Amino acid sequence: PYPHYAQLREIAPVHYVESMNGYVISRWDDVMAVLQDGKTFSSAQFWPELLGEYDPVPEVAPMISLDPPGHVRIRRLANKAFVPGKVNKMGDKIRRVANELIDDIVDRHGDEGEFDFVWEFTALFPVTVIADVLGVDLAQREDFKHWVDALLSAGNRAAYDQDRLDGIAEASKDIRAYFEKVFDQRSANPGEDLISGFIQAEVDGQKLTRSEVLNMAILLLIGGVETTTNLLGISFTHMKRIGNIQEKLRADPELIGPFVEEMLRYDGPVQMLFRHTTRAVEMHGVTIPANTLVMPLLGAANHDDRKYDNAEQFELDRKPKEMMSFGQGPHFCLGFYLSRMEARLAIETLLERFEVLEPLTGEPKWMESYFARGPKGLPVRFKIRG
Ligand code: HEM
Repeated sequence: PYPHYAQLREIAPVHYVESMNGYVISRWDDVMAVLQDGKTFSSAQFWPELLGEYDPVPEVAPMISLDPPGHVRIRRLANKAFVPGKVNKMGDKIRRVANELIDDIVDRHGDEGEFDFVWEFTALFPVTVIADVLGVDLAQREDFKHWVDALLSAGNRAAYDQDRLDGIAEASKDIRAYFEKVFDQRSANPGEDLISGFIQAEVDGQKLTRSEVLNMAILLLIGGVETTTNLLGISFTHMKRIGNIQEKLRADPELIGPFVEEMLRYDGPVQMLFRHTTRAVEMHGVTIPANTLVMPLLGAANHDDRKYDNAEQFELDRKPKEMMSFGQGPHFCLGFYLSRMEARLAIETLLERFEVLEPLTGEPKWMESYFARGPKGLPVRFKIRG
């Protein structure tokens, strides 16, 4: 589905894009090499460019913006709080969130009809899961969703008027104040939630500081909400095109795992990343100067036929061992395990509860972004199972 990526891979694997003043990298091996070499291809400008003055915790860099070796300590601490064993225990909660959202849809629309799958399910599901995982109290949920939306929209600030910018600034202050309160409360009284996990995690006698914990909570929101929302939107968009796929998945729910994995490869929510060179680098005869923007195209690497047979095809039984959708190297996605589990459990619950759940249009409106991929809305026809 990506003819431009194919052209780049074949004709210009290192291609200068004038409007971005940077180079896009499109072959699997090259994207891998860039992402694994954090010293040459630095992440330090990532966060300031994303949030700018709206960063709620400006005094320390979040780990997604740290280069090795500084990144290592904080990542090891984060890994400790986020091991698969702990994530696995969240399964029941995640199913409950999906079921509650479906109950709300039935309350609003009855047993059959139409609703917007993005606005009424996918945009609410991951933020509710993360709120649960971080231990956000129920009374605060409404505010929390509002703050997260404002913060997530900060990346688009060039397009906003002053009122909207003031709203983002306000949300950024509120979310910090909220997590500061949570930090104090959980330091005194730790629970099973992830913030308590971050406060307690210790590597070589070292713990995360208060600002680092705040930062981690906010990074999880920004990294974990829109991506998972989009993965579910993308999945249901393509289901319409892939012959009888819902029937197959309903008949054998074991196939939902392989479906999610192949969907992530085929059309992932993050299409590209951003790095800056710390020195001049030569690749495929092109010299990239020092301190220059480099954009590894994850989506192009995922369709490289040097890496996959029939790379342009969705194949349910492909079971890709490796994919580029979560990045690679030191910043490989911390939510790799959680997000795939969320997607599997959401799809499983949806297909169980809905007899019919079908997009009304062939091609939805996609987000206007080079970087994030997902439908802006997805009207569906539905019928709940009796
Ligand atoms: C990093 C994708 C879900 C937390 C990343 C990166 C990618 C990515 C491509 C690498 C960024 C870079 O190298 O600059 C995705 C996709 C997701 C997803 C496609 C869903 C399908 C999540 C979830 C969470 C999360 C659910 C948290 C609960 C993070 C964090 C990092 C990260 C904390 C930074 C890791 C580091 O700097 O060491 N993600 N992500 N992500 N992701 Fe995800």
